Amino acid sequence: MSQPVQPAINTATRLCAVYGSPIRHSASPAMHNAAFAALGLNWRYLAFEVDPKNLRAAIEGAKVMGFAGINLTVPHKLLAVDMVDVLDESAKRWGAVNTIRFGPEGAVGFNTDADAIVAALREDLKLELRGARVLLLGAGGAGRTAALKLASEHVAELFLVNRTETKADAVAGEIIERFPSVKVLVGYPKTPVDLVLNATSLGLKADDASPLDEKQFSLKQARCVYDMIYRPAETALLHAAKAAGCRTANGLGMLLHQGAKAFEIWTGQPAPLDVMRRALEQNIYGH
Ligand code: ATR
Repeated sequence: MSQPVQPAINTATRLCAVYGSPIRHSASPAMHNAAFAALGLNWRYLAFEVDPKNLRAAIEGAKVMGFAGINLTVPHKLLAVDMVDVLDESAKRWGAVNTIRFGPEGAVGFNTDADAIVAALREDLKLELRGARVLLLGAGGAGRTAALKLASEHVAELFLVNRTETKADAVAGEIIERFPSVKVLVGYPKTPVDLVLNATSLGLKADDASPLDEKQFSLKQARCVYDMIYRPAETALLHAAKAAGCRTANGLGMLLHQGAKAFEIWTGQPAPLDVMRRALEQNIYGH
């Protein structure tokens, strides 16, 4: 089968972009440009370093210049909620915007992160969330979205651990209010769990310690361990989890699925998942 040929950039080229700070290491341009090329679309995806104080102007700029859409990453996802014309249900439900589509309704804000967590856990760990017991590490932006999404998937019990305990308390309070059937506790579990999920940024740097205090919870008590970090491919947590015999996966699948959903929102076409996954692996791991 011959590959579609991507049209050269011209006056009809549609543009997408990711805004973040820092943005230099983003793998999103590689993933989306490979997908556009595979489908023969005359679209391109760029990355821009955008300071939070300029976010509103940058969104307006993309809108008036006819961009098809943008992604938002750290630290813009919460700020953007007040900067779009319309909030899709997904953005309202999770209180964060990582994808904007520009069109006749103006700038429409979506959240594709939350669904991506579940898609990646199912695909990479074959994990059924309904009835599961989960230890979630982290209560920042990513941790909060993960906690609420897992609760909406009817996990049975959620244990929340965060360096700043008041933030875990706040997330627990939100779950009690919105998903009262889920048992939520702040602190480490005393009995085995189906999943340990790292949503902290601890592990991004090569010499970072594991976010899990093994004196409080042994990995022998965990069936699966998922780390939202994908660079490095194996964090200290995943290394220890493998040694303890857990099923493990890193955050590449989450990155893939949030991007695939954004691609579909912008283009209206099914995302070429295999092409996007290969582009991510090549970009991040070089193979
Ligand atoms: P994101 O949007 O990626 O979630 P964030 O909102 O800044 O980013 O959250 C970062 C998460 O990593 C938080 O849970 C943070 O813990 P605090 O709430 O106590 O700040 C956690 N984190 C970052 N550095 C950490 C460290 N050195 N030790 C433990 N947790 C850390």
